[in-house]
Amino acid sequence: MLKTIKVKLNAPADRSYSIVIGRGILKNAGKTVKDLGLGNDIFLITDSNVNCLYGKPALLSFRQGGFKTTASCVIKAGEDSKSLDSFIKIQGALYNFDRNGNRQIVIATLGGGVPGDLGGFIAGTYKRGISFIQMPTTLLGFVDCGLGGKTAVNFRDAKNSIGIFWQPRLVYMDIDALKTLPLREIQSGLAETLKYGVISDPALFDYLEFNSDKLLVPDMAVYERVIPICVKIKADITSADERDEKDIRIMLNFGHTAGHAIEAATGYRKYTHGEAISLGMLIAGGISKELGLFRDADLFRLENLIENLGLPVKLSGCKVSSVLEAMKHDKKFKSGVNRFILPVKIGACKVVDNIPEKVIAKAVKSRMV
Ligand SMILES: NC(=O)c1ccc[n+]([C@@H]2O[C@H](COP(=O)([O-])OP(=O)(O)OC[C@H]3O[C@@H](n4cnc5c(N)ncnc54)[C@H](O)[C@@H]3O)[C@@H](O)[C@H]2O)c1
Repeated sequence: MLKTIKVKLNAPADRSYSIVIGRGILKNAGKTVKDLGLGNDIFLITDSNVNCLYGKPALLSFRQGGFKTTASCVIKAGEDSKSLDSFIKIQGALYNFDRNGNRQIVIATLGGGVPGDLGGFIAGTYKRGISFIQMPTTLLGFVDCGLGGKTAVNFRDAKNSIGIFWQPRLVYMDIDALKTLPLREIQSGLAETLKYGVISDPALFDYLEFNSDKLLVPDMAVYERVIPICVKIKADITSADERDEKDIRIMLNFGHTAGHAIEAATGYRKYTHGEAISLGMLIAGGISKELGLFRDADLFRLENLIENLGLPVKLSGCKVSSVLEAMKHDKKFKSGVNRFILPVKIGACKVVDNIPEKVIAKAVKSRMV
């Protein structure tokens, strides 16, 4: 199975790109990238875990695909590497590799959201922007961070606070990489996967409910079906609202207002991103139910699926007040007016502003252990 999904961006047309999805296709990456005619030299950015598993085959594929020179830069695995320190070190290595600007470099990021976001930011800023391709290897990378063009590093205690939009020229997904991904990372990606069911695809939600045990194995046949569906939803949304300006892309933020607040209130250590987003989706569901917008039965289905995927439905390790305080820093809140993406049924969400604080507090409190 090889699927190609297109992200169509507004003019200039050459910013549109393809997302290639398949199994066992890492070995063909080099030729596919070379055929795009973006350059002759590959600079691979990956992390220490992914490098051990896929670094060599990726470089071999680039050489066999016709790239003249290849180099790789390996960061320490983990969120701490998404920093300005890593940014400066890699820019230095890239500068050395460039031989006084004589090379035609294409950056390839290989790994999850950390090498992806960092590598995209490096590509978008080196010489005011050079081509890059994303090769995600986590489920979160496949369904979310591998596409869309948001790149960034963290600064002090603020996540993704320094970054730019910089679109990849190709996203290349060998989903067999899931076979080596630790279960907790798979579960983290499943939170974003089920999010797509809630915001726009009730049939996807049904399918995930029916196959929840297979998703944890992981059963690759199930992922072959699910990943392209999620990619298509994100590709369509980002094509319609590349820069988050039209209240379309904002729907991807379902569960993220409370989720980000939970990550901050627990010091970014207790929960993975997906675990925090699961709790955030339940809090948004609770708010929506309280406002009479979301049925009890639908909230129950959401909670059940989250629980069956081994994701948390109860929150611990922080106070209600710290979650509420952290929420106030959400980028969607303007001049003290809050803004949430609330589910109205399985398959549809809406933006709601100015929700009474006591309603939000009640929904957070109901999730505490
Ligand atoms: N740009 C976006 O639109 C976007 C969207 C969502 C999240 N993000 C960002 O993504 C990051 C989180 O992404 P992530 O969860 O992919 O993190 P990650 O890159 O840290 O990967 C998680 C862990 O899995 C390991 N790993 C990766 N692929 C593997 C494989 N195939 N087999 C074994 N181990 C593997 C990594 O080494 C790491 O330890 C955060 O920084 C978040 O801000 C970005």
